[in-house]
Amino acid sequence: MSRISSDPTWWRQAAVYQIYPRSFADSDGDGIGDLPGVTSRMAYLSALGIDAIWLSPFYPSALADGGYDVDDYRNVDPRLGTLADFDDMVTAAHTAGIKIIVDVVPNHSSNRHEWFQAALASAPGSPERARYHFFDGLGENGELPPSDWPSHFGGPAWTRIVETAGPNAGSLGQWYLHLFATEQPDFNWDHPEVREDFHTTLRFWSDRGVDGFRIDVAHALVKDMSLPLRSKPLLEILVDDGTDPIFDRDEVHEVFAGWRSVLNEYDPPKAAVAEAWVPFTERRLKYAQPSGLGQAFNFDLLQAPFAAVKFRTIAQRCLLEAEASGASSTWVFSNHDVVRHPSRYALPDGSTHADLEAWLLADGASPELDSARGLRRARAATLFMLGLPGSAYLYQGEELGLFEVADLPASSLQDPTWFRTLNTVKGRDGCRVPLPWSDSEDNFGFGGGPWLPQPDWFADFAASVQDGTAGSTLEMYRSALKIRRELQSEESLEWLSEPAAAVVHYRRPNGWEVITNFGDAPAELPFGVDHSQVVLSSGELHVGSIGAETTLWVAP
Ligand code: GLC
Repeated sequence: MSRISSDPTWWRQAAVYQIYPRSFADSDGDGIGDLPGVTSRMAYLSALGIDAIWLSPFYPSALADGGYDVDDYRNVDPRLGTLADFDDMVTAAHTAGIKIIVDVVPNHSSNRHEWFQAALASAPGSPERARYHFFDGLGENGELPPSDWPSHFGGPAWTRIVETAGPNAGSLGQWYLHLFATEQPDFNWDHPEVREDFHTTLRFWSDRGVDGFRIDVAHALVKDMSLPLRSKPLLEILVDDGTDPIFDRDEVHEVFAGWRSVLNEYDPPKAAVAEAWVPFTERRLKYAQPSGLGQAFNFDLLQAPFAAVKFRTIAQRCLLEAEASGASSTWVFSNHDVVRHPSRYALPDGSTHADLEAWLLADGASPELDSARGLRRARAATLFMLGLPGSAYLYQGEELGLFEVADLPASSLQDPTWFRTLNTVKGRDGCRVPLPWSDSEDNFGFGGGPWLPQPDWFADFAASVQDGTAGSTLEMYRSALKIRRELQSEESLEWLSEPAAAVVHYRRPNGWEVITNFGDAPAELPFGVDHSQVVLSSGELHVGSIGAETTLWVAP
């Protein structure tokens, strides 16, 4: 029987666990995680205490970008299972009281999608071409790309094709736009069929019982492709006022208003969360407005160093932002696109993004990580975050305290970034290594020989080792997620510490208090806090004080 709640606001303070299906659990021994694998671990997910699962793409795909190159939006990759397996997974999740969120990838399809294949087989100017962005090249013979736009993964955002139809069949012809890999042609969102088809996709999965959607690259769908295309040699949004030709254009919100009407056909309405990497301005609020998707990721905490003032300022600002948009805030430290946060926090203080990439390129050998510190901070950050009002998005394996696998052999790397930057940027494979379930089974209990090799040190982090072990990261997550259900009531908090203090202290309306010492030395417990009321600590407990880089949860 389904234990799933019909509360339409369930997503507002949910703990959502992201599953990267290829790397979660492999049920058939082919080394690729699959949907029956997810179903087989439902008891684990239930015991973890999450409210929802967000599944990264499991659709048919050549995996040119880990599944974010979708061949068919309304099917399951045969390597990952069948639609029947999907239905079984939804039933198992709902029986366990867990909601399902699926990923929608609307900015681009894969180059194997039937529409793109039809476009390649048709002549320039044909209706088949119009669903994507095909343009003649610049230069005397069209040999230059239509604009200077770079691809997100390196190299130009344009690829030239050999025409197969029309008067120029057999010769080099038009160019098509792909903000990501060559295999990911961007859709033309001015085309009504593209808009209509995504409504069909939303209904398809909604009818199969999913509870919500995560919208990939939500800020890029609608572009200004009027000629001449404007110059944009950097992908960054330099001025976020709606004039960027690619990102964060006002018209994108018309698309999402249409999606909201579709999502509201259901009772309860389906939830949606936007992945929109836009700077913090008023414009960001629109992605989360109730007349649109309803919620948006903010990646501010993810991008911040572990530092008291930063964490507090960001939390405060994001809560105000959420209130202004009518949404609830979202919190994220890790996902399938970034270096796992214990590793980030273990780099020397002051490390920049460039330092992080250099560290990855050096296979994690230099600089040497302060791993103990990284994990200590990661655990403290987690309890700081799980106590806040809003939705917590967790990435598979963070509950085990996993670090980035920075020394994957070059021959195993699969991220298009690695290839498109001619091996100068390593990419995201290191956070996608299949999970260690057991220290005593082959492939750490994942299944068959995994598609990315697992390091030996995974044995110490296996779920089997941490299960029931007091103080383990897994047990800390379990306790926190259990208590969190009690702690999350009204969506507000009161800051009890001074804005610049190294010990950040807040109280929820129901009396729960969260105290984080961001400093690297123990500190006194705030005045009036009774040590005996501490029910959870990210680090060792000390009478009367709080350890360095530690968070405490204090019961009312
Ligand atoms: C999003 C996804 C990322 C993917 C990209 C292109 O940022 O999270 O994994 O590569 O979009 O779809």
